Amino acid sequence: MMSSNFSALDSLRTTCVARLDHSLDQLLPANSAASRLSEAMRYAALGGGKRIRPLLVYGAAELAGARHEQADIPAAAVELIHAYSLVHDDLPAMDDDDLRRGQPTCHIAFDEATAILAGDTLHTRAFELLASEGQYRADTRIAMIRHLSRASGVDGMAAGQMQDMQAQGQQQTVAALEAMHYLKTGRLITVSLQLGYFAAEIDEPGLLDDLTRFGDAIGLAFQIQDDILDVTMDTEQLGKPSGSDEKHDKSTFPSLLGLDASRERARALCEQAQQVLSGYGDRATPLQQLAQYIVARNH
Ligand code: IPE
Ligand code: IPE
Ligand code: MG
Ligand code: MG
Ligand code: MG
Repeated sequence: MMSSNFSALDSLRTTCVARLDHSLDQLLPANSAASRLSEAMRYAALGGGKRIRPLLVYGAAELAGARHEQADIPAAAVELIHAYSLVHDDLPAMDDDDLRRGQPTCHIAFDEATAILAGDTLHTRAFELLASEGQYRADTRIAMIRHLSRASGVDGMAAGQMQDMQAQGQQQTVAALEAMHYLKTGRLITVSLQLGYFAAEIDEPGLLDDLTRFGDAIGLAFQIQDDILDVTMDTEQLGKPSGSDEKHDKSTFPSLLGLDASRERARALCEQAQQVLSGYGDRATPLQQLAQYIVARNH
């Protein structure tokens, strides 16, 4: 099962990243009541990134039998939430980092107040898109908004970020570290798959459960790999400051378990994820390759 053929993922990426970039460009106009704020939002959302979460939305929608067009709005929405989380994560009050995606972070390129507001408005724009853009049934919009807000909020990503701040300088148990990683990173990964399912407007609860289990496994693996790369890669390769976790005395997988055990845990989770979708055949190949890519990636 573990091969390093990424051809299906490459072709999903080729089509879908172009779709996403086009949607974000359309959906984040440069002119608003505060053009500096719009510019900062565009700066944070349009400047590269691997676009993993949108790819998961498109991959899940495809698996659920939908056309890519049906996934455009939730793919853009989850990337806006992700972009907001990065802008705030990099602020001096949080990780205090000055480089993101190979460019100065939003608060360096603009200023702190603008970066805080850009994070806020990327966040609200995401929900506005789900409420009003594209062609969806009303119950589909509600399901997407409910799931994305839960995954981002006080029992989701933001809770994980709070735990991350509180764990600085503390020795955590592996269970507590996994729970924190699952919240701060896993929840947005899982909800990306769920959004793809909802966008397809089908009624197949078994598929929703399988996508959730797949997402939970790759989501945790994704943050373990992020922690590994923080230790093993240099700043230029990462496009963000290498060694940031150690500098801030963060609680991470490598610091708790060492690199080898961290790699093994990430690999095992991705294998477990692939098992979950093994019954879906070729339709699941792009997602299966995404699971492999998460632990094979070097930035
Ligand atoms: C970085 O996410 C933050 C984490 C949740 C680990 P990504 O590695 O997906 O960042 P981009 O979007 O590619 O820049
Ligand atoms: C951040 O984790 C997770 C988010 C919710 C943004 P990190 O702080 O490790 O992400 P990077 O390494 O700065 O991208
Ligand atoms: Mg952080
Ligand atoms: Mg950070
Ligand atoms: Mg990191």
